[in-house]
Amino acid sequence: MKKTKIAPANGKLGVLIPGLCGAISTTLIGGIEAVKAGKGKPIGSLTQMGRIRLGKRTDKRNPLIKDFVPLTKLDDLVFGGWDIFDENLYESALKAGVLEKTQIESLKQEFSALRPMKAAFDRDYVKNITGPNVKKGKTKYDLALQLIVDIQAFKKDNGLDRAVMIWCASTETYIPPNDVHSTLAKFEAGMKKNHPAISPSTLYAWAAIKCRVPFANGAPNLSCNIPALIELARKTGVPICGSDYKTGQTLMKTIIAPGLKARALGINGWFSTNILGNRDGEVLDDPQSFKTKEVSKLSVLESILQPEIYPDLYKDLYHKVNINYYPPRGDNKEGWDNIDIFGWLGYPMQIKVDFLCRDSILAAPLALDLVLFLDLAKRAGMGGTQEWLSFFFKSPMHAPEVYAENDLFVQLEKFENNLRHLMGETLITHLGTEYYR
Ligand SMILES: NC(=O)c1ccc[n+]([C@@H]2O[C@H](COP(=O)([O-])OP(=O)(O)OC[C@H]3O[C@@H](n4cnc5c(N)ncnc54)[C@H](O)[C@@H]3O)[C@@H](O)[C@H]2O)c1
Repeated sequence: MKKTKIAPANGKLGVLIPGLCGAISTTLIGGIEAVKAGKGKPIGSLTQMGRIRLGKRTDKRNPLIKDFVPLTKLDDLVFGGWDIFDENLYESALKAGVLEKTQIESLKQEFSALRPMKAAFDRDYVKNITGPNVKKGKTKYDLALQLIVDIQAFKKDNGLDRAVMIWCASTETYIPPNDVHSTLAKFEAGMKKNHPAISPSTLYAWAAIKCRVPFANGAPNLSCNIPALIELARKTGVPICGSDYKTGQTLMKTIIAPGLKARALGINGWFSTNILGNRDGEVLDDPQSFKTKEVSKLSVLESILQPEIYPDLYKDLYHKVNINYYPPRGDNKEGWDNIDIFGWLGYPMQIKVDFLCRDSILAAPLALDLVLFLDLAKRAGMGGTQEWLSFFFKSPMHAPEVYAENDLFVQLEKFENNLRHLMGETLITHLGTEYYR
């Protein structure tokens, strides 16, 4: 197989984050500084800790992913971004309460130097928070142009040739697909007319793609996942991906459901509930923002279990997801799942999961990996939707003619085979007949 030509990762890579003062962003940036200083390990990150098998099992070739594909080094990342709060990252990290105080104190110098740019924000789309650090503009188009100026200035000030943008801002209210999203021309005209179906996250995505900056969406709101922006990304050769980091409960769901299906066990109920007390939880306490999250969380089981082709096993599945804002827990979410399954002759059984997770501790490595893989994709000339990065998302973007691939193990194989393909290695089929000749 032929290796794809990949431009080298020379120089620094800018990482632009809408939501710079949030829990994920501060955990990501603080975590990277801690890793660089040798104070912690980048656990949960495929780019830093993951390995990939190459060739036959007898070849014993299992390099680290970062030694196999040319990724940007952690030392070469430069962070910047936007937020509605006018505070430095030291203050933000203390408020987010994810990293321990002693860890934050040890990063005081680096964190204090980072302040967000003014955000493109509109309370119509995120009801439960407000802040002073917000751009002014007559139209949404004006705001988007200001974002372009910010991106260009950030690159110039830091001497950067390359940058990636990753949405770590609050979940916006639910917006169903609208005609204004259907083509780039309609979208750009809509920005000038302040169309209500154009939310701030789509403005950031438009500005990034216009600047040839790859874009990932870590939240469930539309952002880059509309035909107009997919069209722009394809035209400009900019890689994009989303949506909604696959962290706690949905990670468990996409691990357990494929296993039950593999054993042809039936499921007739899956009840999921959470308590969460961080700012994300507060935003999701608004029913319109929760609706966006609910749609993203609900979609996974249907595409994994395929009730249309397995009616005896899954056609009556009742799937319910709740998120409850409960401040005492902060970022330390607790997620319960009750799964009603059935086996031989329909005899019922139950599975209970109680996952005491840490939301941002699970999300930060995903954000890091997405930044590095999107930059790789750009240097490899891969524009448009990056379905091979589905592994990282609850609600992955996909071509309109196929369903989203949500099974974590299929996603992993897709991801690994894409890396092998990129580097001209043989794809692994798991046929295994060569060992028995
Ligand atoms: N933490 C997780 O495990 C997880 C998992 C999946 C998805 N997500 C999503 O990732 C996003 C970030 O999560 P978090 O826990 O860091 O949330 P957070 O509330 O701590 O941070 C979000 C930040 O975005 C800022 N913000 C809101 N609108 C903005 C705008 N238009 N421009 C710039 N900044 C804006 C807020 O002021 C806040 O500082 C949320 O949408 C969340 O739903 C989180």
